[in-house]
Amino acid sequence: MQHINWNSELEIGINVIDGQHKRIIEYINNLIDMKDDYQKEKIAELINALIDYTYSHFAFEEALMEEAGYEYLYVHQRTHEAFTSKINKLHDMFIEGQDVGKDICELLQTWLLNHIAEDDQSYAPIVKDKLSVIQKKDSGNWIKSTIGRFFN
Ligand SMILES: [Fe+2]
Repeated sequence: MQHINWNSELEIGINVIDGQHKRIIEYINNLIDMKDDYQKEKIAELINALIDYTYSHFAFEEALMEEAGYEYLYVHQRTHEAFTSKINKLHDMFIEGQDVGKDICELLQTWLLNHIAEDDQSYAPIVKDKLSVIQKKDSGNWIKSTIGRFFN
């Protein structure tokens, strides 16, 4: 499988979100690099970390959309949920010993790139505006504490 390369279509213009998307892509690329002869525990560790980080990212994104009063928050949440249930199923299969590492990579790759380029781009303008107002008011405290709430 090919590595994912960061490109302008993926950039939504909100630094904190772009940074998280880049981190997720880095995780996926690391997973792509893992060959079959890697120890299974190493792959399991990476998949766990990747899924965990993605969930934190979703929760963070949803908090931003909520704070900005984004009108399609509910729809966006349903999209995150649909993805979560798919990846959970694959993760369970992986834990049971099935060889689904590649399917996990593929799902992440196709779903995530589409999701960023379409759904995330849609909320970007309104969230970006709201965020700059908040940041001026409290010099970044809201962002910091919201990151602290979802990422450990
Ligand atoms: Fe999203």
